[in-house]
Amino acid sequence: MIMPTETSTEHRAVVTVIRAEQTLEGGGFPVRRPFPTRRLRELDPFLLLDEMGPVEWGPGEALGAPDHPHRGFETVTYLLAGKMQHRDSQGHVGVLGPGDVQWMTAGAGVVHSELPEPAFKQTGGMMHGVQLWVNLPARDKMMEPRYQDIPAAQIPEAASDDGLVRVRVIAGEALGCAAVIDTRIPIQYLHYTLQPGGSIEQTVPVAHNAMVYVLSGLVQLGTAGTPVRSGELAHLGAGEVLRIGAPATATVAADLLLLSAAPLHEPVARHGPFVMNTPAEIEQAIKDYQAGLMGRIQSE
Ligand code: CO
Repeated sequence: MIMPTETSTEHRAVVTVIRAEQTLEGGGFPVRRPFPTRRLRELDPFLLLDEMGPVEWGPGEALGAPDHPHRGFETVTYLLAGKMQHRDSQGHVGVLGPGDVQWMTAGAGVVHSELPEPAFKQTGGMMHGVQLWVNLPARDKMMEPRYQDIPAAQIPEAASDDGLVRVRVIAGEALGCAAVIDTRIPIQYLHYTLQPGGSIEQTVPVAHNAMVYVLSGLVQLGTAGTPVRSGELAHLGAGEVLRIGAPATATVAADLLLLSAAPLHEPVARHGPFVMNTPAEIEQAIKDYQAGLMGRIQSE
């Protein structure tokens, strides 16, 4: 009897590895940014990926992003350490702690601030997180803003049988666990932690654009075992499954984000915090913001 061979499954491979650029964002907090950079403008439908910190703030030092608008896309904040406070023009106030996710669909427009939580700012400490911008399809760009604040305890988590691989399922599905967050388009957002010697094969829908960003340690991707290190982004080629491993000789665990989504294939007109389809829509966004139509944050 002929058994189906492994080659019948198309494995995704690393196409390019891009090193994140160091920059300052918002009020001046340090970020590692794999894109947008000169080498990679965007990865449809993903528009931006910022790793905030890790940075150790002294008492009173912590910085964030004061009031600013967004229109036409989604901002996804995933905090790993520290405490952030979010306020916006819809009257929404939320505090994010380690492991919490805020999936904000800006739609037609919000003004928000993303600042260190006051008590955290006072004492200082480690701040570390990730912000991802996801483009909205043209039909959703002017939708009502929507918030999904998901505390860490509600993010599904799963582990491999040998316990060497753990995954937090922020969007999509992994190891039989489905995410609780609802997305406008099909998205996978998985946070994998691999102990030395751990490996896994993760399904990635064929129609998705896909990438891996390594937060810490070193991982090996694809059947070739391409090494990708902390602060590097691997753009993946076509296929239906991705092999992820950590070398048995590693001395620390590796953390990575696997991000994939169905591309929109729509024109992108981008200006700072506004991402629309045409330059005219950008002009309108600027006018609407200046006219106060995106609202403002009410003081307490
Ligand atoms: Co923002």
